[in-house]
Amino acid sequence: MYKAYISGIGHYLPEKIITNDDLSKIMDTSNEWIYERTGIKQRHYVSPGQGPSDLAIPATENALKMANLSVKDIDLIIFATSTPDYYAPGSGCLLQDKMGFQTIGALDIRVQCSGFVYGLSIANQYIKTGEAKNVLVVGAEVQSTTLDLSTKGRDTAVIFADGAGAAILTSTDEGKGILSTHIHSEGKFAKELWVESPSTIDSPRLSQEILDEGKHFLYMNGREVFRNAVKRFPEIIMEALDAHNMSSGDIDLLIPHQANIRIIEFIAKKINIPMDKIISNINRVGNTTAASIPIAFSEALIEGKIKKGQNIILAAFGSGFTWASAAIKW
Ligand code: COA
Repeated sequence: MYKAYISGIGHYLPEKIITNDDLSKIMDTSNEWIYERTGIKQRHYVSPGQGPSDLAIPATENALKMANLSVKDIDLIIFATSTPDYYAPGSGCLLQDKMGFQTIGALDIRVQCSGFVYGLSIANQYIKTGEAKNVLVVGAEVQSTTLDLSTKGRDTAVIFADGAGAAILTSTDEGKGILSTHIHSEGKFAKELWVESPSTIDSPRLSQEILDEGKHFLYMNGREVFRNAVKRFPEIIMEALDAHNMSSGDIDLLIPHQANIRIIEFIAKKINIPMDKIISNINRVGNTTAASIPIAFSEALIEGKIKKGQNIILAAFGSGFTWASAAIKW
């Protein structure tokens, strides 16, 4: 059996910065409300015409550069997004063309905030079995065009944002890399955090009535999401630790999905890990769904917070509900 390690990681945030004060000009909200409840001060939004496959390009270029690889070396693209450029085909196919990858497999996965860790889990299996040597895992999102940026949608709109992260998983026989991944889902909560339309159940898929009812916007039942997140995050972290007879004291760095600072603080208390061992950029970046973990990971690496030999845990929770973790020896 081979082992997979992260040979490269990169990220990209679109140029346009939207502060809480900017949002308070278009909806009834305030910097104080948003910051106190979520920890967010600003986020990035795309410019018209930019899709997740576009955001993925610079993120992937940075990841390839760090790995010292070219597009020709990549055997498979796994593209995690809950906001694909188009209903069909997938954003992975678009990225294959835009970056000139060979005619390799391109797989979109839609597991929302857990997408990047699910993607690592799939890539890990391809590499362990020797089916692939280098796999690209992208998490890229354009949430801004899915948000109801009026007072009606304010509880959801202030949280979500745009961005992209990308990692290259490479085969190795050294003692580092992905130790294990764990993935879960519970679809009975599907409607607590979802985009109802356009839907294949509706005929026609899109109508004036659907638009008037705002069914095409991301909807979130914040309290139900919070209640489940604070249960599932600690569970999935403990599952990753238990698999290697580790305890929370063995974690050098926890990189959680940047859902909300209050959720991250709750996790820290629950599993007894100091906040300085937890990476958080939510104040600047907001919640970028599948892109959130690779962006935080890439930034932490650039800032010199990640060192050889560290035990790193990635943990995600999101719409579905889905949740996932990865244990990594750096
Ligand atoms: N600005 C100002 N006021 C707002 C607001 C906003 N952006 N959004 C909601 N409010 C108001 C509500 O209308 C409500 O007013 P009322 O008391 O007059 O009815 C009040 O603030 C409290 O709303 P509520 O929804 O009860 O707030 P909350 O304490 O549950 O906080 C969230 C809302 C969304 C911040 C919180 O539920 C949360 O963090 N949920 C988890 C979200 C998350 O992490 N999602 C990502 C998962 S991947």
